[in-house]
Amino acid sequence: MPSQGTSFIVAIDGPAASGKGTLARGLAAKFGFAHLDTGKLYRATALAVLQSNGDPRDAATAAAAAGRLDPVLLAEPRLLDEAVAGAASVVAAIPQVRAALLDYQRNFAAHPPASASGAVLDGRDIGTAVCPDADVKLFVTASTETRAERRFQELRQRGAPAIYRDVLQDMKERDARDTQRQAAPLAAATDAVIIDTTTLDADQAFERASALIARALGSRSR
Ligand code: DC
Repeated sequence: MPSQGTSFIVAIDGPAASGKGTLARGLAAKFGFAHLDTGKLYRATALAVLQSNGDPRDAATAAAAAGRLDPVLLAEPRLLDEAVAGAASVVAAIPQVRAALLDYQRNFAAHPPASASGAVLDGRDIGTAVCPDADVKLFVTASTETRAERRFQELRQRGAPAIYRDVLQDMKERDARDTQRQAAPLAAATDAVIIDTTTLDADQAFERASALIARALGSRSR
């Protein structure tokens, strides 16, 4: 039985551009669950630090920004900027920042907005640290080259100047920071189902994940 109230919790983790965001949004829409892209919390923290001319590497500055995070910032288009993404991976490595954002995430999972019956949270440590008792845990991944190519195309479509080699290098550096940090590093929970989107397209990934959720919902109502 889930230990976080009656909310049905889907935890989706994985590296950047693995397809987890698209999957999370689609699953939330299909099952009528609320969705939280937890990367936005780290991006918003980074943006708040950068806006006040602070140093994202400074633990006290970053933790203070995380502690007084205004949820309005989560809708800010600048969260998509590569500079913000880079700073987000720096603040995400600071344990005090992660601690400051934990309650918000757990509260969203246990008490989803608009009285939704469940929540889908996507990030790096949802199944391992934020919601270790989630009803369904997915780890969505793809090869580094596939993910860099996706990010490259995304940037091009937004009209941002991008060079594939630089995007790949950036991706490798961000992956290294996310997986090698001490605090809640990116990792698949031992009970997570791995979905590799190097060879699966978005529809196939969605079908696989939907089937897992439907089965878990069914066994919960029995
Ligand atoms: O998924 P994203 O690119 O928006 O995430 C931004 C940064 O935040 C990235 O470096 C990973 C980090 N992050 C994290 O450490 N834990 C999460 N649950 C979500 C994101």
